[in-house]
Amino acid sequence: MSKVSFYRGQQLPLEMHKVRIIQKLTLLPIEERLEAMKTAGYNTFLLENKDVFLDMLTDSGVNAMSQNQQAAMLMADDAYAGSATYTRLHDKLKDIFGMDYFLPAHQGRACENIIAEVLVGDGQIVPMNYHFTTTKQHITYRGGEVIELIEEAGLEVTSSEKFKGNIDIAALRETVGKDPANVAFVRMEAGTNLIGGQPFSLKNLQEAYAVCQEFEVPMVLDASLLADNLHFIKVREDEYADASIREITAEIARNCDILYFSARKLGFGRGGGICIRDEEMYKRMRGFVPMFEGFLTYGGMSVREMEAITIGLEETMDEDMINQGPQFIEYMVEEMDRRNIPVITPAGGLGAHINAMKFCDHIPQEEYPAGALAAALYIASGVRGMERGTMSEQRDDNGVEPLADMELVRLAMPRRVFTLSQVNYAIDRIDWLYQNREMIGGLEWAEEPEILRFFYGRLVPKGDWAEKLVAKFREDFEDSL
Ligand code: F0G
Repeated sequence: MSKVSFYRGQQLPLEMHKVRIIQKLTLLPIEERLEAMKTAGYNTFLLENKDVFLDMLTDSGVNAMSQNQQAAMLMADDAYAGSATYTRLHDKLKDIFGMDYFLPAHQGRACENIIAEVLVGDGQIVPMNYHFTTTKQHITYRGGEVIELIEEAGLEVTSSEKFKGNIDIAALRETVGKDPANVAFVRMEAGTNLIGGQPFSLKNLQEAYAVCQEFEVPMVLDASLLADNLHFIKVREDEYADASIREITAEIARNCDILYFSARKLGFGRGGGICIRDEEMYKRMRGFVPMFEGFLTYGGMSVREMEAITIGLEETMDEDMINQGPQFIEYMVEEMDRRNIPVITPAGGLGAHINAMKFCDHIPQEEYPAGALAAALYIASGVRGMERGTMSEQRDDNGVEPLADMELVRLAMPRRVFTLSQVNYAIDRIDWLYQNREMIGGLEWAEEPEILRFFYGRLVPKGDWAEKLVAKFREDFEDSL
């Protein structure tokens, strides 16, 4: 179904589902939110969910399930080996992606662990459109190097380019062609996470795969954010306007050798898996599933989740089921843009992304503008977003901190979870914060872990800007929460 038009011409997304189970939320007064932020070391990952009003940290493992998914969970077949649940999931994946082999794993990064273990050798390179944090970690941990070949538009904050996740084909050809034996694999990420959930076009994937085939290098597709990318191919790539989501999915799968996914995103559940076309490759990877994950027919997943994923994958083939996320995100991005709040355009999948480099252009990158803005936003609203900038980078062997290409605050839109008035509340508070942006100050580390520091590192504000922000909020909102 395409968009519904309103009589008075409003541009509003319309949910094609109704809510039948709810979870009560609490909105703490701002004074208590400040205390909660302090306790969390100004790191939104360390907030307790009970203190959060709208949890826009991630879309991972927090998507609403359908009644059919929940019903299927009751029919799970609990068996260590040979579970019928596994067969149902495997059959569904074969049906959708057309690949013969499947290895289950407990989540996306577990798939990355197995793929990197088998394919990445010391000194090898992995060209890709753009990295994801855990993917890069698994590759560099094995002595490999990530080479990012995103097209120029991908790193432009505001753009009218429809497929900012596209890889630069000429650069890919040159990089792979130089020494194909030194290329562990090429990786394409659907709905490119760290640059704002931006999609690749199907044409771009086809061209990238042709390069892989020419030089006999495996193509690995990270399909974690495939649902959003499917939506964008359907609505933005003219050639596929009349194709069904199922047909687009099949064509995507024909253009890679290995496809892995986090089922915390794809399939509205919690788990992961690797689909493999080639038997030989399957056999090379297979042994690591019982070693790292669990037996081959569950791979660390609960059978109940596997049933839910099987249904969730089928629902992903339904446009009405995958449209809601991108349409709500588009609404949020356009509303913020209308208020001159700097956001990544065009809207991508996964969430709305605020350009903190511009929002907080008075904060030097070394003081983490995106981290500071995420903390300030929680204090001002109880909305929890995620820093996606320099804090999410890692120091090199000499302790030098690379400055991120972009400083973003990501406001993820868990699929089918929030209502439009909740989204409007978030926009309102961001608007207030933008009018008061000069008050936001920088952050510095109090405790900086060596690996994936953004997950559990602790910071402190430079100065007392957070207290001043609370005082200004009280002036403007009096007795509002
Ligand atoms: N690949 C992509 C593109 C991802 O976005 C993620 C997770 C993973 C792999 C890893 O999957 O979490 O199941 O182990 N992204 C989450 C996020 C964590 O919040 O963006 P996982």
